Amino acid sequence: MFSKKLIQRLNHSSSVVVLTGAGISAESGVPTFRGKDGLWENYNVQELATPEAFNENRETFWKFYNWRRKLLNDIKPNLGHYALVDLENFLSDFTLITQNVDNLHQKAGSKNVIELHGNITHTYCIDCNFRTNRDEFEDEVDGIPRCPECNGYMRPDVVLFGETLDPECLTKAQEASATCEVFFSIGTSSLVEPAASLPYVAKGNGAYLVEINTEQTPLSVTADEALLGKSGKILPLLVMILDRFR
Ligand code: OAD
Repeated sequence: MFSKKLIQRLNHSSSVVVLTGAGISAESGVPTFRGKDGLWENYNVQELATPEAFNENRETFWKFYNWRRKLLNDIKPNLGHYALVDLENFLSDFTLITQNVDNLHQKAGSKNVIELHGNITHTYCIDCNFRTNRDEFEDEVDGIPRCPECNGYMRPDVVLFGETLDPECLTKAQEASATCEVFFSIGTSSLVEPAASLPYVAKGNGAYLVEINTEQTPLSVTADEALLGKSGKILPLLVMILDRFR
């Protein structure tokens, strides 16, 4: 399944970047965004996960986010997440960039994680920027959490549709991509910018580009290796082989 070139590259590379999308969490039971069984099949995310919904329909907005957060509370990382923890332990310079807000990489034990789209377990106050974990607000009356510091409205610390990414996070992700020797794109449809550009930044700077996905994506033709299959199966296998050849 893996080329000799990839194994040699990984054994000799000093820096590796992994970009993940919703697909890596699919085997944990988290719905993806697109495709059948996608989250968008049941909810109109494009309408709910927006600054407009937060401003105009705060109760429904928070109902949706509370539903997603509670769903995620009981969900556990899968073998794909854990294999990335092993990979981080093998390598001296490893950066994990994720588009997921589900906190599962951290739950698994990954350390150097850039959360491009934020983290659903965190909240911040739109008035005074006070930040805290969402679980602090279980007792609110109308389902809309208020800031314990200034009584302002709290919102989830995630990037909503139409919002730009945190520039510091994005710069870090771009820099890591531009300087890595191997870049993995895992479980993402490679459709949403600016994350979708990162593999091209890496490849343009000489990185070996590997994709792991259950389907072909627009990135597949550019990848040096496009591995078709579930990340929860492919990644543990890769770690096993790397371990054997160390
Ligand atoms: P998508 O739902 O667009 O794509 C998920 C990808 O995972 C698809 O290409 C699937 O083929 C693949 N996939 C599914 N199961 C898999 C498995 N077990 N192993 C490997 N691959 C699998 O999700 P993203 O690309 O993450 O942004 O979506 C990007 C962004 O779109 C999200 O972060 C979200 C949305 O707009 C925000 O909310 C800001």
